[in-house]
Amino acid sequence: MSETDRTFDRIQSEHRELCQQLHHHNYLYHALDRPEISDAEYDRLMQRLLSLEADNPGLVTSDSPSQRVGTTPLSHFPPASHASPMLSLENAFNAEDLIDFDARIKRFLADDANLEYLCEPKLDGVAVALTYQKGKLIRSATRGDGIIGEEITQNIRTIAAVPLQLQGDFPESLEVRGEVYMELEAFRKLNLQRREKGEPTYANPRNLTAGSLRQLDAKLTASRPLTISCYGIGNISGKPPTTHQKLLEALRRWGLRVNIETIKRAKNIREVIKRYNELQQLREQLPYEIDGMVVKINSRELQLELGEKSRTPRWAIACKFPARQETTIVESVRLQVGRTGAVTPVANLKPVSVSGVTVSSASLHNWDEITRLDLMVGDTVIIERAGDVIPDIVKVVKDKRSGKEQPIPEPKHCPICGSPVKRETGEVIPRCQGLNCPAKLKEALKHFSSRGAMDIEGLGDRLIDQLLRLNLVTNLTDLYRLQRRDLFQFERMGEKLADNLLQAIEISKQRPLENFLFALGIRHIGSHLAKLLSRQFGSLKALEQASREELLSIHEIGPQVAESLINFFADSNNRKLLEEFVELGINPQTESQGNSDRLKGKIFVFTGSLEQFSRKEGESLVESHGGRASGSVSKKTDYIVAGPGAGSKLEKAKQLGVSILSEAEFLDLIEQER
Ligand code: IVH
Repeated sequence: MSETDRTFDRIQSEHRELCQQLHHHNYLYHALDRPEISDAEYDRLMQRLLSLEADNPGLVTSDSPSQRVGTTPLSHFPPASHASPMLSLENAFNAEDLIDFDARIKRFLADDANLEYLCEPKLDGVAVALTYQKGKLIRSATRGDGIIGEEITQNIRTIAAVPLQLQGDFPESLEVRGEVYMELEAFRKLNLQRREKGEPTYANPRNLTAGSLRQLDAKLTASRPLTISCYGIGNISGKPPTTHQKLLEALRRWGLRVNIETIKRAKNIREVIKRYNELQQLREQLPYEIDGMVVKINSRELQLELGEKSRTPRWAIACKFPARQETTIVESVRLQVGRTGAVTPVANLKPVSVSGVTVSSASLHNWDEITRLDLMVGDTVIIERAGDVIPDIVKVVKDKRSGKEQPIPEPKHCPICGSPVKRETGEVIPRCQGLNCPAKLKEALKHFSSRGAMDIEGLGDRLIDQLLRLNLVTNLTDLYRLQRRDLFQFERMGEKLADNLLQAIEISKQRPLENFLFALGIRHIGSHLAKLLSRQFGSLKALEQASREELLSIHEIGPQVAESLINFFADSNNRKLLEEFVELGINPQTESQGNSDRLKGKIFVFTGSLEQFSRKEGESLVESHGGRASGSVSKKTDYIVAGPGAGSKLEKAKQLGVSILSEAEFLDLIEQER
């Protein structure tokens, strides 16, 4: 065996080992909720895998843990027919219905069988079928009409809780069924972000999950924190387990996620009813939405004996929970103006308690929604809490109208500054056009000083209000012009408080580029994209000069984001603002240079087809961190950054003993600079 073969053998076995480790830790984390390593350690393993694969593209297989996000958007979802129909469930609504269900089964089975039931939470998400062949995930489909669904494999693969490869004693072929859903905390966070950006919010986690799974570009699905819980099978090769409980346990053993902790066995229908009541109480504390309880006969043999009707099995039933609805009155409507000028209507309600939570306002989303509901001030309405803390109005009770109700017209002027309000084509939300709208400025200041942005400690709502009232701040840069004497005009402002605030403002000048980019509040640039952009470009100047094509060539950046950045930098007011920031000593580019003595004097060579940044960007990153980029490898070269397909330069670097970095390792090196 030659030296090269031996090296390749070593690489191959390291790659196999890494894949196994990552699959295993994924399983511990997602299926069992019992991680054994830190997130940082997991990231380290993943980075190593990515770097091995970048150097050896031949090693990449479709079930590698690195291959979750597909790169090419689809044009449509192909139809996917189900080998056995995906049935739905008959509904029950109370204890009486459950007793009827039990009696029906006993009649059908003739003998008074000793029935055992399994009680599962009825997850409120989207049903999917996952097909595994020899343990590999080969296809995923939605339910559709139960006979034919849509193939959404690309999107399902992005869900970290879905194993790409089963483990243990899995059967040769298996079709698993389960519910994809989003946990409440993640849903609320996403809605909050949308609300802040003035984008329409989602009514409930189910709608958001369904929307996320229907993205033709899997990158978008990957950005939504979805998860899955499996509750059954379509087909299985070999001998299936004898009870439903054993089946669920086996699924879990094979690496699939099952919400086993909330699933309970019941010896008779009395125990089922007891569990139904318990689960209804538990519902308020669960981290995800459930809309009922599914009752299933545990014995698979009896399930087969009972069989199914045209669309529903006889051996299972869904006992629904009452919707968390109440009736109240819309007393008035207030208009909120967000950071981007988005004007959103919010209904002030006569306070009412909805399953233990007092509710006094409801989001109306936008005027299309008001029209759809045909809502007026004074109307009696049915509101529902479904995942979001802020409830939705589901219906107007028209019978209760007295004739005194008032319409809710779309505003022509901003309720705060009086500037015209305009709705762009294709948008559902009108926005205030006023450049100096205090409401916009207030929200912009709140965002600018928040954690993750410039993180100015002590600059809260109350102080921002006073700064605006006293006209001390008319744009973001004015914060850095504040003097001690200005602050003494404030109510309850002592010397210590003033000094602390000025110091916090001063310290914020040192924040890294990613914080500054996020703080600027550019549309569609959240903290994640800000980090990505700052990694890619290294300086604000480089980002400002980036062309649309250059932006679009970056993984995760689509046309909307590229457009938003181009528009932001094209605006002369924004450019002026950025210049003022620099004059005032806020220049994150200089900042990162100041910290980067570790790259000082180091010589880098880039080779191969780089995927995460262009060669020019890589070189300017090196330079902005004090290093030097060169076109050829020599004894003086310190690092070679090699992408896929690297050839002679990489060979030469190996001979000369130059340190070899993957793109990810290079970016990590720069990160450590901070
Ligand atoms: S069993 C033949 N179990 O409810 C059995 N379904 O109306 C079919 N669902 O389409 C489904 N949690 O999307 C089952 N623990 C659970 C479930 C569950 C949620 C959904 C599923 C199905 C619908 C039935």
